[in-house]
Amino acid sequence: MSLIRDQGIKKICLFGGTICPRSETLLAGSGSIFIMSKNITQLAAPVDVKDAFGRPLHDLRISVIDRCNYRCPYCMPAEIYGESYKFLSRKHWLTAGEIKRIASLFIQLGVAKVRITGGEPLLRKDIVEIVSSLSDLPGLDLALTSNGSLLASHAKDLKKAGLKRITISLDSLDESVFSEMSGRKGEVSRVLQGIEAAQSVGLTPIKINVVIQKGKNDHTVLDLIDQFRGSDTIVRFIEYMDVGTLNGWRLDEVVSSASLVEQISARWPLKPVEPNYLGEVANRYIFEDGKGEVGFISSVSEPFCGDCHRARISADGTIYTCLFAKDGISIREQLRAGASDSDLIGFLQGIWRNRKDRYSEQRRENNEIRKTENSRVEMYRMGG
Ligand code: GTP
Ligand code: 5AD
Ligand code: SF4
Ligand code: SF4
Repeated sequence: MSLIRDQGIKKICLFGGTICPRSETLLAGSGSIFIMSKNITQLAAPVDVKDAFGRPLHDLRISVIDRCNYRCPYCMPAEIYGESYKFLSRKHWLTAGEIKRIASLFIQLGVAKVRITGGEPLLRKDIVEIVSSLSDLPGLDLALTSNGSLLASHAKDLKKAGLKRITISLDSLDESVFSEMSGRKGEVSRVLQGIEAAQSVGLTPIKINVVIQKGKNDHTVLDLIDQFRGSDTIVRFIEYMDVGTLNGWRLDEVVSSASLVEQISARWPLKPVEPNYLGEVANRYIFEDGKGEVGFISSVSEPFCGDCHRARISADGTIYTCLFAKDGISIREQLRAGASDSDLIGFLQGIWRNRKDRYSEQRRENNEIRKTENSRVEMYRMGG
């Protein structure tokens, strides 16, 4: 049953009161207009869907796999994610075609950016097909987040398939620090080769995500900046977050962005600049000497829920409306049972309209980890 129909949408026609010959039905309601043909429903214009706090839907982060070849202790601690750990079985993964269909529905609700994530998305054998089918969708900012370990051999094909840009995680250039922070799986040189390959095929601007944990890698911050300053690659420091339930997060392991800005400025003076768009996650700074940009993602010290316009979907088709959600809503069964596009669009609208998430703000207000602590979905599963 369609949520749209439940919401009392009336049939109308845009073409002088007659039903349009191209389509079977024209529907309008709640500010949205649908053109329904036999197999596909297209919105005549994107629907301006807003959540319960008036936030639009702008980004979709699609996790294509819950597996990873690293075991970063802040994400997938090795002692839990051992050989015998049961990840999602392949039959539950959305196919490239299903991913494309879901993305196209989200686009009709206002999504303009799709980020492919994981786990490690390059572990999916059909990753090039996934990128290629998403790149068919017009006007989309199509990005991918990877740990970079397999990028050197994938960069060219990903670019050819239509990927626009890439974000690579690299927590330190110090081999032993990096090894520890990747659960003894990562090698700095492989990631650097991946970055070089991405640069050479033009997957730009490249962003480097660096999670900072006090006492682990905060002493290697300046080396990272030194390596990438002046190369059009944007390093972004992420405050260590209490995502999931397994990393034993403690507030005293968080290094605030403010203290990093101070540390970096003392060596290379920085100047804050305006965000590229409303709701950008990173606070941007440029080097006063013109050698590029650096970003700070401060979800702990300066939560940014107020403008949060991101939906997430896991590899098995569960939709989450917050990185700290304790549950999500699956779209896969309906999709596989043959639901129409209009039904699915109504379903997604309903989810977004009910959204009241503002976890990071609540964490700061309560100055403590909330009660969902033991039931939050892990980040590698829902997509970072
Ligand atoms: P651009 O499109 O390049 O601006 O990237 P993005 O902001 O989508 O960035 P990216 O995916 O690289 O996000 C960087 C990191 O910020 C993520 O890996 C998370 O650690 C964190 N992050 C992203 N979105 C959210 C969010 O909605 N809430 C919180 N708390 N953290 C987020
Ligand atoms: N805190 C902050 N960032 C995290 N990431 C994974 N777990 C955490 C955490 N607990 C980051 C990864 C990667 C991105 C997808 O999310 O390092 O850059
Ligand atoms: Fe893998 Fe990324 Fe999680 Fe590290 S943070 S274990 S690279 S998914
Ligand atoms: Fe968005 Fe949730 Fe992150 Fe807040 S905590 S910015 S609502 S994903």
